[in-house]
Amino acid sequence: MRTFGEELADLRGQGLFRRMRRVEGSQGGRITLDGREALLLCSNNYLGLAGHPLLKQAAIRAVEQYGAGSGSARLVSGNMELHEALESRLAAFKESEAALLFNSGYAANIGIIPAVVGKEDVIFSDQFNHASIVDGARLSRATIVRYPHNDMAALRQLMVAHPAKGRRLIVTEGVFSMDGDMAPLTDIVAIKREFGAILMVDDAHGAGVLGANGRGTAELCGVKADIDLQIGTLGKALGSFGAYVATSRELVEYLVNRARSFIFSTSLPPAVLAASLSAIDLVDSPEGAALREKLAAHGRRFRATLKDADFETTGSAPHIVPIFVGEAESAMEFTRRLLEEGLFIQGIRPPTVPAGRCRLRCTLMATHTERELEGAVEVIIKVGKGLGII
Ligand SMILES: Cc1ncc(COP(=O)(O)O)c(C=O)c1O
Repeated sequence: MRTFGEELADLRGQGLFRRMRRVEGSQGGRITLDGREALLLCSNNYLGLAGHPLLKQAAIRAVEQYGAGSGSARLVSGNMELHEALESRLAAFKESEAALLFNSGYAANIGIIPAVVGKEDVIFSDQFNHASIVDGARLSRATIVRYPHNDMAALRQLMVAHPAKGRRLIVTEGVFSMDGDMAPLTDIVAIKREFGAILMVDDAHGAGVLGANGRGTAELCGVKADIDLQIGTLGKALGSFGAYVATSRELVEYLVNRARSFIFSTSLPPAVLAASLSAIDLVDSPEGAALREKLAAHGRRFRATLKDADFETTGSAPHIVPIFVGEAESAMEFTRRLLEEGLFIQGIRPPTVPAGRCRLRCTLMATHTERELEGAVEVIIKVGKGLGII
């Protein structure tokens, strides 16, 4: 039997060893990382709300009024007022009948998928879907059919080729977190209708950022009413923590009875619930609209300048701009050299992305300044040239 140490040595040898870095202070556009100042270009705090004074005040007030913890799972010792208030606010925000909170996006996906499909059913899952969707699908014991990324002709063919005795679930991300592109939701909705399938969209990276009112990819594509289960996270653009599904009242009741990660886990605590409520109010306000506009302008300029400099990039989401570099070692060397120049952009390697498609996943924040991003692009170009990437 191989030891854990030997397996770790293998990871090091393959350039796949991971370690965590230390950030001092709060998460903002500029951070102190392992003791030195850096511009942060790899956080999901897209609107900069994690450090917003309104979220902080809301969390502090909630702790004073309700305490630090929720005490147990909601089916055991009951809902706190704030759980109910946040779910009502989320349903109104997403324009769904109802919403149900989960403790994280990961918990939502591994709870919801096995609740809605099982052995007799078939899941059609985009090949680039997040690990939490992959794990939820595996847990469900349904037949899993992976379709090529965003390939609608292939999805349709696979739907024809895989009839199910029971349910058919199509599951996709709204904005793909590692590629910065979006699912063709209008086409997916047409296929879902044609085959009578259930549609689940994980909009972890779209909610708060996309659509005229920040309601996410479904709002942008004009298909809100056609998605059976919309997952969103509260820990990314919303600057807080946790996740939710926006869906019908019936499905919320069903999930309360069937989703194991909901049933068997202590619920979100008051500070997190209050900060999330405050974040939705902000996203829904003129300040939220202004932050989205600023982020969109940042994204357009950043992506265009990188493309002009001959970097390979994909997608059109304002806030996620990948730079493809190939192998893991190149990605990590790029990250290391950028850090020496005061830029923190994490290299992304397998198993998060396919081998040979390693990348730097640049994520922008509305609270970055234009000057900061212009300076960052200059450094990326200089280092990219030095490494022979462009
Ligand atoms: C598409 C997607 N779904 C779910 C998650 C998990 O969300 P959370 O971080 O709240 O567990 C992520 C996290 O990166 C994600 O990118």
